[in-house]
Amino acid sequence: MTTQENITSVLVENRIFVPHKNFIEQANLKKEEYERLLLKANTDFEGFWAELAERNVHWFKKWDKVLEWKEPFSKWFIGGKTNVSYNCLDRHLKDKANKTALIWVGENDEKRTITYQELFNEVCKFSNVLLNLGIKDGDRVVIYMPLIPEAVVAMLACTRIGAVHSIVFGGFSQEAILDRVNDAKAKMVITADGGYRRGQAVPLKLNVDNALEKCSSVEKVIVVQRIKNKIDLKSGRDYWYHELINNASLENKACELDSEHPLFILYTSGTTGKPKGILHTTGGYLTWVTQTTKWVFDIKDKDTYWCTADVGWITGHSYVVYGPLSCGATTLLYEGAPNHPDWGRFWKIVEENKVSIFYTAPTAIRAFMKAGSEWVKKYDLSSLRLLGSVGEPINPEAWMWYHKNIGQERCPIVDTWWQTETGGILVSPLPGITTTKPGSATVPLPGIFASVVDENGNSVPSDQGGYMVIKKPWPSMLRTIYGNDERYVQTYWSRTKSAYFTGDGAHKDKDDFFWMLGRVDDVIKVSGHLLSTMEVESALVSHSSVAEAAVVGYPDEIKGEALCAFVVLKQSASDHQSTLSDELKQHVAKQIGPVAKPDQVRFTEVLPKTRSGKIMRRLLRDIASGKQTVGDTTTLEDMSVLEKLRVQDEE
Ligand code: WTA
Repeated sequence: MTTQENITSVLVENRIFVPHKNFIEQANLKKEEYERLLLKANTDFEGFWAELAERNVHWFKKWDKVLEWKEPFSKWFIGGKTNVSYNCLDRHLKDKANKTALIWVGENDEKRTITYQELFNEVCKFSNVLLNLGIKDGDRVVIYMPLIPEAVVAMLACTRIGAVHSIVFGGFSQEAILDRVNDAKAKMVITADGGYRRGQAVPLKLNVDNALEKCSSVEKVIVVQRIKNKIDLKSGRDYWYHELINNASLENKACELDSEHPLFILYTSGTTGKPKGILHTTGGYLTWVTQTTKWVFDIKDKDTYWCTADVGWITGHSYVVYGPLSCGATTLLYEGAPNHPDWGRFWKIVEENKVSIFYTAPTAIRAFMKAGSEWVKKYDLSSLRLLGSVGEPINPEAWMWYHKNIGQERCPIVDTWWQTETGGILVSPLPGITTTKPGSATVPLPGIFASVVDENGNSVPSDQGGYMVIKKPWPSMLRTIYGNDERYVQTYWSRTKSAYFTGDGAHKDKDDFFWMLGRVDDVIKVSGHLLSTMEVESALVSHSSVAEAAVVGYPDEIKGEALCAFVVLKQSASDHQSTLSDELKQHVAKQIGPVAKPDQVRFTEVLPKTRSGKIMRRLLRDIASGKQTVGDTTTLEDMSVLEKLRVQDEE
């Protein structure tokens, strides 16, 4: 890095942005109220949460007890009865029946707008379809769909009858469906004939058929017709959505479910091969996603809100569907990709739908920066009033670009830190209150006790890096890893004493602002998607030519991190290196999905290991990113390995 760049980056980090007067005046959460809430959370923790639950959720029956905390297991609003679908639909019908609930923009520029009344009707009918096919409360239903309104209908219908949905991202392969269906012992799969990705048809139903050959728990499959490709329907197992729904009754009363009734399972990458089924429950989750949508996105009745996430990720659950609908807002869904048919796609959608709140990921922002601001200039973005970012640290340059080009220096930016496990946003600016610094997610929301600690659980001084932990439970926290309490304790509650370990590194500056440093373990983020290096390694090793593999991330301008695979071939395959590189990339894409495809495959005879046989990934990371290795290599078993890998690098 040159001196000039050093100076600039220092300047950028010191820049601060105070909320505009006009925004402050109209904000949902104002300073006096914020200060009252902070004080209440500190002095009357349970009273604070009771107030939020009362205010944000319709309860059929009020709870008897706010919190039962037997570390690390929590129960919230015990004895309370509610229903997520009721809160997202029924309660809005009196005032908002004809208000648009969903705007859907399809890959081929199709558009559908669906009112609260229409969405309610469809969800009631589909709830009856599920009941008629034998789905009962507590049963698991896997949803594997493109981003179309029927995916939202399926989610809400599950929550209405108390079934537990588990969404598998439509970009994942049949192996991912297989693992998740089997782990959740799902009774049903809801899918579509196919979906589109950048103009290409994706054979979703075929993937389901292949996966189900190895799953015994699934009894029924419902198929939405989306692309009208030719598919097989297995008699007695498979049904068309449109046929079932046409015959379904409209009468369906939302079940009165316990606050702790399981709501959904969402699988996320773990450091060991198998994905973790993150389990969320009803009342606490709903309380927090509703509250944070009001506070962080400042959502109002007149807004058109667009979060670009797919429902296959937690962001799609909490801030495309449940948060905004629970608030009675208009939420936009889009199917496709930011650069198809061209880099103007997002801005065209903003202009045409007068989007006022826009929430996306840094990886998309960096890609837009690279594509050039001329794509942005073609469109009228004057409807925007607030911008959000999620999924990974947003580097200050990207923050500034977003602020200038998209926000036109008018819109506050909320950089929201959270995780699949946290259910909702935990650290974020409040747009009418918090002074922002580009690159910092700023401070925890009221009720959230986040801290940066060392290995012994002691807070570290400002500007020193450490582990980011949460010291008190919160209502939308995961309850466990589905079917594996032990792994839950091990993963989140054993690194430091009496605190939830986020897996992220962070430091706080002298103003107590949080700066996230990314994952501290072997889970990496590629284009905003969490991937476990172990999973990619297992996929590589499942190829008949591969003996051993180690996968690491290295910085990439656009994707945040890119994947480099170090591969040791079996003796018999070592003559085919030139053709194997592409073959292995394709193999991983097929096993896990295109997001996991390594950007580089490097062949090596050995991997650097410690004497106890642990692969020294830190060294591989340095090699992949072209850095000279610094730090301790004394535990390395065979020093010559590094030299060999480096020589290859220079070739
Ligand atoms: C990272 C996504 C910095 C972090 C909602 C976290 C972030 C992981 C931010 C969770 C942010 C998310 N700043 N890092 N604003 N938001 N992360 O489960 O490493 O897909 O642990 O949930 O993303 O990813 P997940």
